[in-house]
Amino acid sequence: CIASYRGDSVTLVFDSFKDDFQKATGIKVTSVRSEAKAGIVLSVNQTLAPEAYKLDVSPKQIRIEAARPAGFYYALQTLKQLISRHVMAGVAVGGRQEWSIPTVEIEDVPRFEWRGFMLDEGRHFFGKDEVKRVIDIMSTYKMNRFHWHLTEDQGWRIEIKKYPKLTEIGAWRDRTVIGRNTEEYDNTRYGGFYTQEQAKEIVKYAGERYITVIPEVDLPGHMLAALAAYPEMGCTGGPYEVCPRWGVFEDVLCIGNEKSMQFLEDVMAEIIDIFPSKYIHIGGDEAPRTRWKKCPKCQARIRTEKLKADKNHTAEDRLQSYCMTRIEKLLNSKGRQIIGWDEILEGDVAPNATVMSWRGSAGGIKAAQLGHDVIMTPNDYCYFDYYQSEDTRHEPFAIGGFVPLEKVYSLNPTASLTEEQAKHILGTQANLWTEYIPTSEQVEYMVLPRMAALAEVQWTQLEKKDYTNFTTRLAGLIGLYRRDGLNYREPFRQQADSTATEKK
Ligand code: ACM
Ligand code: ZN
Repeated sequence: CIASYRGDSVTLVFDSFKDDFQKATGIKVTSVRSEAKAGIVLSVNQTLAPEAYKLDVSPKQIRIEAARPAGFYYALQTLKQLISRHVMAGVAVGGRQEWSIPTVEIEDVPRFEWRGFMLDEGRHFFGKDEVKRVIDIMSTYKMNRFHWHLTEDQGWRIEIKKYPKLTEIGAWRDRTVIGRNTEEYDNTRYGGFYTQEQAKEIVKYAGERYITVIPEVDLPGHMLAALAAYPEMGCTGGPYEVCPRWGVFEDVLCIGNEKSMQFLEDVMAEIIDIFPSKYIHIGGDEAPRTRWKKCPKCQARIRTEKLKADKNHTAEDRLQSYCMTRIEKLLNSKGRQIIGWDEILEGDVAPNATVMSWRGSAGGIKAAQLGHDVIMTPNDYCYFDYYQSEDTRHEPFAIGGFVPLEKVYSLNPTASLTEEQAKHILGTQANLWTEYIPTSEQVEYMVLPRMAALAEVQWTQLEKKDYTNFTTRLAGLIGLYRRDGLNYREPFRQQADSTATEKK
């Protein structure tokens, strides 16, 4: 099989495709400059949108057009899927396999520029290999943002050189609660973290798949692991424990303490050094005001900054806004933009912030109306830690909720917005919180095939979405999961379950 390509921008993509293709099929691809002789032709078409591609498979030749490397990459991903599908039905002739590709004409362009997936490694730590596997899965779905949730009450997962105790102490918990916040613990030390070098390796690995890594340092709440390492940064001074339970905790960062603010600024300086992304996620969710109300330093900050309560916000709400805005200013001065969870709308929203809507879509709609950019991750559609079936007896123990495949597919991230407001919706992503997801197998089970449904929300124009059509293509996907040794939830089991119930 020989291929020709025009344009240096595609050389890199093509080289990696050659290797991938050979691994999958055993067929060696060599490149030639003559189009006529080539089995696969890649050519640059500047009239196409940045991530768009055209794939034309005729009996004679496979032709791919794109404007940018990402477009070629996506076309080649589709090609690999089309080929492998036929491997399943492939004929082995005298030990030799035959491969085929259906003739197709595809013109594809994503509906949204932000096509993300978030992995929480604070609650459970999966390690570099699994993160790469998740990135691989994302890449087959042509997703382009990996939101890496790296800090939590239960573990701090990224090396910060100026604060070594964050990972010496903060990356390890002595015990983990059993079940749903019972009084029983496993009394087993648990943890792990990424060195800066390892994190950079992930950034590079993702980049080679046209995926940007967006780090999240969640502040000023969800900080118990950091407080266990540096108790002087909390309002009470501790002692604190890397948290063995799940939930929202009252001990948060002391914003009145200039040392805590300096800590955040120092952490951000190292974070932007590791992660070249335009956006840095700074959390902002679930930060109780309890400690700030009683803390003399926080109250002094409220006075000196003249933070005032009004009918909608307390002075402590404004204290959180003060913290977010200060970090935003710092990051903006370094050419970066912040993302915050929708709680940042409670107070004065940091002026350039992009809002990630998670408590349903209301926060995202409000933010878009205020002129902020928005990423829609409403929990009732996008929380992949929620159950996939109402019959939870036959599912792995999960946090709750119910987000079946069809619900994911049905998301329209721009619903209830005017055309002008809809322009602020950068896109959508799924979030995988991992309190109840201790293993890589379970990560895959929760993600597949829901990620396929999400990918169609991210790529397909609204008027072309069709769930019935999607379900007819699922069997092919399941074949790919089996081929790649991925764990997944059998998508038709729910129907089988309900049929069985009806028969009783
Ligand atoms: C969140 O689920 N606390 C963002
Ligand atoms: Zn305080």
